[in-house]
Amino acid sequence: MADTRCLRDVLGRFVTGVVAVTAAGPDGPVGLTANSFTSVSLNPPLVLFCVHRSSRVRQAFAQAGAFGVNILDESQEAVSRQFSRPAEERAGGLTFHRGQTGAPLLTDALAYLDCELEEQIEAGDHIIVLGRVRDHEVQWEGRRPLAFFSGRYTRLHTEEPVPANRPAG
Ligand SMILES: Cc1cc2nc3c(=O)[nH]c(=O)nc-3n(C[C@H](O)[C@H](O)[C@H](O)COP(=O)(O)O)c2cc1C
Repeated sequence: MADTRCLRDVLGRFVTGVVAVTAAGPDGPVGLTANSFTSVSLNPPLVLFCVHRSSRVRQAFAQAGAFGVNILDESQEAVSRQFSRPAEERAGGLTFHRGQTGAPLLTDALAYLDCELEEQIEAGDHIIVLGRVRDHEVQWEGRRPLAFFSGRYTRLHTEEPVPANRPAG
């Protein structure tokens, strides 16, 4: 059996972005910070994130049948902390707009994906939440993403300006 601490250390060496996944709850937006987000398929457009089985907000995603993936920028560490702290009221003080699916989307996020819940797959102590992208947008061109590495928030260091579009080729 793998040594859990060592496994965490190794997995932490894989640098990721940080997203806030959000859903419409009975009393307003709910969600959690996640770095398990990844793209799965372009055609059809599918993405996933993993949520711990014991998460108190997990059921909200199933009940809503839709969720938003809000990609955070480097100035949004506080938003990430807000969505990961053990509080009932995680979405307080933030501005949302409603996506096509009805999911709440953070107005200030770098980019968003508005998803319908496609499938939930049990995987060990987590649930893989697979979503079909119904709408998506880069909201703020030129901003840099928030990154997570080795258990810490970090930033991209590059002299290059952030490309507005995909490089050709
Ligand atoms: C950078 C970062 C990434 C995280 N990624 C995940 C994740 O992918 N899946 C998950 O279930 N929790 C993740 N968490 C923990 C959740 O944000 C949150 O703390 C947890 O859901 C709290 O439990 P609750 O949902 O019961 O309130 C992450 C936390 C941080 C700070």
